[in-house]
Amino acid sequence: MNTAGTDAAKPTVVLGVTGSIAAYKAADLTSRLVQAGVEVEVIMTASAMRLVQPQTFLTLSRRPVVTSLWEMPDWQPGHVALADRARVLVVAPATANILAKMAHGLADDALSTYALSHHGRVVVAPAMNPRMWQHPAVQENCATLRRRGVRLVGPARGHVACGEDGVGRLAPIEEVLAAVLEELG
Ligand SMILES: Cc1cc2nc3c(=O)[nH]c(=O)nc-3n(C[C@H](O)[C@H](O)[C@H](O)COP(=O)(O)O)c2cc1C
Repeated sequence: MNTAGTDAAKPTVVLGVTGSIAAYKAADLTSRLVQAGVEVEVIMTASAMRLVQPQTFLTLSRRPVVTSLWEMPDWQPGHVALADRARVLVVAPATANILAKMAHGLADDALSTYALSHHGRVVVAPAMNPRMWQHPAVQENCATLRRRGVRLVGPARGHVACGEDGVGRLAPIEEVLAAVLEELG
């Protein structure tokens, strides 16, 4: 999480991309945030990288993409340095897995470790199969996050990639973008 080349005049948003089939939509969110004058620092999980290439986010954000906890170009662990300047963490799409990790404070990769270091606002946009979304474990994890002040956007109702209809689709990117910009103030 290299700070070289950052523009101090711009607000920083950390975008966590997780292993949902909707991960490709995070590329559009990156582009829209950059166009809105935001410095976007992308952190991808290992599962997200099975679905989308870090190169896409590198090009759209014009910033190095964090793909591992163990990349440390600097003396200071990257997640600590980044947490000092990021005003909003947005996880979009957010898998059932990252919701559980954030609700329970797990820190076993770059994104979940960053989430514990972050002290600004947090927006999450869940995306998953409707049956996963309805599972009490997922609902309880979301309730825990809401209670802590995390802003949940979606999921939306509609057709999901696995062929079912129901609630589980990633909210429209416009809604996620609006929530992030609102949290930036
Ligand atoms: C093709 C594919 C699509 C997936 N889509 C989703 C999804 O939309 N939502 C979800 O919660 N999990 C989804 N999963 C399962 C997650 O990738 C899996 O739970 C993984 O451990 C999530 O890791 P992460 O949260 O670190 O990215 C999908 C898996 C595959 C193989």
